[in-house]
Formats: sequence, C-alpha cells, structure tokens
Amino acid sequence: ILRYTGRPKGLPPGPTCYPIIGNVGLVKPSEAVQAHRNLRKKYGDIYTIMTFHKPMIAVHGYDNIRELLVKHGDIFSDRPLTIINGVFNKGKGLVWSSGPLWKEQRTFALTTMRKFGFGKRCLQDQIMEEVDCFMEELEKYENKPFDIQNILNTSVSNVICSLLFGKRFEYEDTKFKRLVVLLNKLFATGNASSPAFIFPVLRHLPMSRYTTVQNIFADIDGFTSEIIAEHRRNFDGNNINDFIDGFLLEQNEAGENSTFTDEQLKISVREFFAAGTETTSTTIRWSLLFLLHHPEWQQKLRDIIDAVIGQSQPKMEHKEQLPLVEAFILEVQRHANLVPLGLPHAPKEDFHYKGYHLPKGTFMFFALDSVMTDPEIFPEPTKFKPERFLDNDGKCNGEQKERLIPFSTGRRLCLGDSLAKMELFLFLTRLLQKFEIKPEKSECLPSLEGKLGITNMPAPFDIVLIKR
Ligand code: HEM
Repeated sequence: ILRYTGRPKGLPPGPTCYPIIGNVGLVKPSEAVQAHRNLRKKYGDIYTIMTFHKPMIAVHGYDNIRELLVKHGDIFSDRPLTIINGVFNKGKGLVWSSGPLWKEQRTFALTTMRKFGFGKRCLQDQIMEEVDCFMEELEKYENKPFDIQNILNTSVSNVICSLLFGKRFEYEDTKFKRLVVLLNKLFATGNASSPAFIFPVLRHLPMSRYTTVQNIFADIDGFTSEIIAEHRRNFDGNNINDFIDGFLLEQNEAGENSTFTDEQLKISVREFFAAGTETTSTTIRWSLLFLLHHPEWQQKLRDIIDAVIGQSQPKMEHKEQLPLVEAFILEVQRHANLVPLGLPHAPKEDFHYKGYHLPKGTFMFFALDSVMTDPEIFPEPTKFKPERFLDNDGKCNGEQKERLIPFSTGRRLCLGDSLAKMELFLFLTRLLQKFEIKPEKSECLPSLEGKLGITNMPAPFDIVLIKR
C-alpha cells in the first residue's frame, strides 16, 4: 500500500502526493512548460512529481543539466520506459533505445551519416539542390497569402530522404505528401507529459491517442518498407549510396545475433525520417514568424546578405561573414524553444546528486526551457534580441552560443544537429535573397504563442511572398 501512497524517501521534494494517483492531473500536457516553471519556483531546480506510483524527476538550470548530462553522461544516457520503447519499438531503434544497442546503433548511424556528408561541407550541395526546388515551387505562390507549412515540410523532409533512401520526392507525390502531413500530426499529438506515455497500460484509454500514433507509425512503416525491399533487391556491396545500403552492408557482415535486424532498420529509418523533418521545418516556420514581427531585422539581414553574397548561391563558408544571420537563427532557436522539456533520460544505475537519490531507470527530464529563458545567461529573455549573440566586434559570441542548447547536450545530443544548422542557414539565407516576406494583414500579425506537442509549434499562419 505504501508503494502506491507516497513519494519514496530520498527523492527530491515535490508537491503533496495523493494516495494512488500521486500528482496525476497537476500538469496539463498542453501547458506543461508553464506548469514546470511554476513548480520550479516552489520546489527548486530539482523536484519530483508522482504519476500514480512512478516518480518523474525534473532538473532545471544550465549547471545541473551540464553536470548530469555531460559530466555524468555515461550514467544519464539511457531512456526510461515509455509507450514508445515499451510497446511500439520493443527497445529497438535509436531515439528511444538504451544501453549497448543504442550505443552500437548511434555509433553506426553517425559514422554512416558522416560518410554521406553529415558535418561536412559537401552536404550543402545536396541541401542547395533541394532549396532551389523549394524556391521554384514558392514562385507559384507569389503575391497571394498562403500557408508555407506543407511545402516547407516536404522540402526539408526531402533532405533527410536523400540521405536515407538516396532519392527525393516530387511536391505532387500524393503518397509522400500525405506522409508529411501525418508526421506533422504526430508531432502535434504526442506529448511526453501524458500519463499514457509513461504507463503503456493506459494506452487503451480513449484519450491516450494510442491508436492515432499506432496508425501513423504503420503508415510510415508501410511507405518505407517498400523502399527498403527495393534496396534489398538491388543491393550491391560495392555501391553504397545511402543509410539503408549502409545498414544492409553491416547486416550482411555482422551475422545473425547482431543488433542489425530488419526490425531495427525499419524503426531507425522511421525515427530519422520523423526527427529530420518536423524539427527543422518548424524552426524555419518560427524564423518566418519572427521576420514578420521584426521587419527591421528582415531588412538588416537582407542588406548584409546583399552586400556579402548578392544573389550568388549561399554556402556554409559564408556563415562566418554573415554573423547577423547566425545571431538571428540562434535567437529564433532560443525563442522557439522547440523541445522545451527535452527528451526523457534515465539513470542506468542509482545515483546521488545534491543529497537526493535518483533511482536507476527513473523518468527524468532536463528542462532545456530553463536555459533558454534564464535571465542570468540571456538578460531580458522575453525580448527578441539577436544582438545578444554578437560580441563588440559584431562577430558571433562563442560563449553565448555555447550556452544555447536547443539540441540538448551530452551523449544523447541531437544526432542531426550539424544537418539542422546547415539547413537553417541555407534555407533562410536563400529565402531572404529571393523574396520579401510579408504578413497577410500588417495590422494583425500571426501569434507568437506556441502549442506544445512533441515540439513547440506555432499555429498555422499565412504569408505573402514578393519576388525581389
Ligand atoms: C535527439 C533537437 C533536428 C535527429 C534530439 C533531442 C533534441 C533534439 C532536444 C534530444 C536529445 C536528448 O535526448 O537529450 C533537435 C532540434 C532540431 C533537430 C532543435 C532542429 C532544429 C534533427 C535532425 C535530425 C535529428 C535534422 C536528423 C538527422 C535526432 C536523433 C536524435 C535526436 C536521431 C536521438 C539521439 C539519441 O537518442 O541518441 N534532437 N533536433 N534531429 N535528434 Fe534532433
């Protein structure tokens, strides 16, 4: 009975824990960020809330996050049990896996993606090809209000598709278009604060949205399984062109008892496809919103781009000459607060920190939000001030940049951060070169209020593009 009626001794403090339910209902999933800001004010940087008898430990503050995720990164690199790894993925995949399987698959994914350009300048040509298709498509929508979301998602998704599948899809491809819309729905639906996420058994309750997520996963897997089968049929070990080829080669060489199973391939591809699409395209949508709200910044950025590269193709080597563009993107990422509570981690063994017991396997989240909005690091955090990322010489301020952690930190740092940074710079610079971005009605700008799903998303909004 005790197990079900109280917060276990030694855990960080927290709100009064009710019998059986613990603190269920205290944090409304869609308002989780504000709820956790309030809880932090009351209970400090590290506290516990109970979902029935399971503790969930929150960690706030740059120093605590660095200490646990970086200094003790080997302990805090597992994921806790959730509906995703417990029910859907059965411990496989990359984003939601743990232990030796995760380690092996992460190393493999990084090495393979590097071969295809991750972190290297050569990837920019591939991205720019897609950016140019995107610009061509946008010309069809000139001078009239439209919602850029689906075209943008398709375009960003094509970059990760080229790396995974070795091919891109046309904007008119109905199957692909549908999938990209479903991805958006997945990111709007999922929320790590929902009890059903932590207690897979609750998935059968109608409000758990389990069936929605299950159907979206099945749709994505159906789409990718055809592509995987085609790769298998045409496999040539001397001609490795994309992630799937790389995986099949490893599978052939690794033998039967390895982690390179068919199931692992299916889940990794689904995860990359999802993680590589919605995150970056939502950040670009936030950038557009801030350009609408700050026309003076739109002008400043365009002036400097015109002066430095004119209409020639943007390249990553231009980034250093365009610190204003970089500062703008960093400030957008700070405000967008894309994954405000991060993805959950779990200690892989019992750990003691600041006098608290953090038991093995506990669901812990590291509130990236507390860093993005920390007035000690980013004074007047509610203001949009890209100049906070510039030093006195107008160069990008390395120290400030270092402390902005939208991709998290430590061993589970976002695996696509280098790709995302390239995409953000190249897509945005090209957009500013080619178009003026205007609101539908200048007296009624779209809201800067985000809605929290898996990521913090702006509400749909229209823009008007005027060709330069
Ligand atoms: C994980 C943010 C783009 C692939 C993560 C995490 C965050 C994040 C916060 C969780 C890290 C943790 O567990 O502590 C972002 C943001 C992006 C972005 C803000 C864009 C602006 C991408 C892209 C890819 C990607 C383009 C595709 C290649 C991944 C993967 C993981 C991950 C595979 C799981 C890593 C692991 O668990 O080892 N990302 N991400 N992300 N991201 Fe991203």
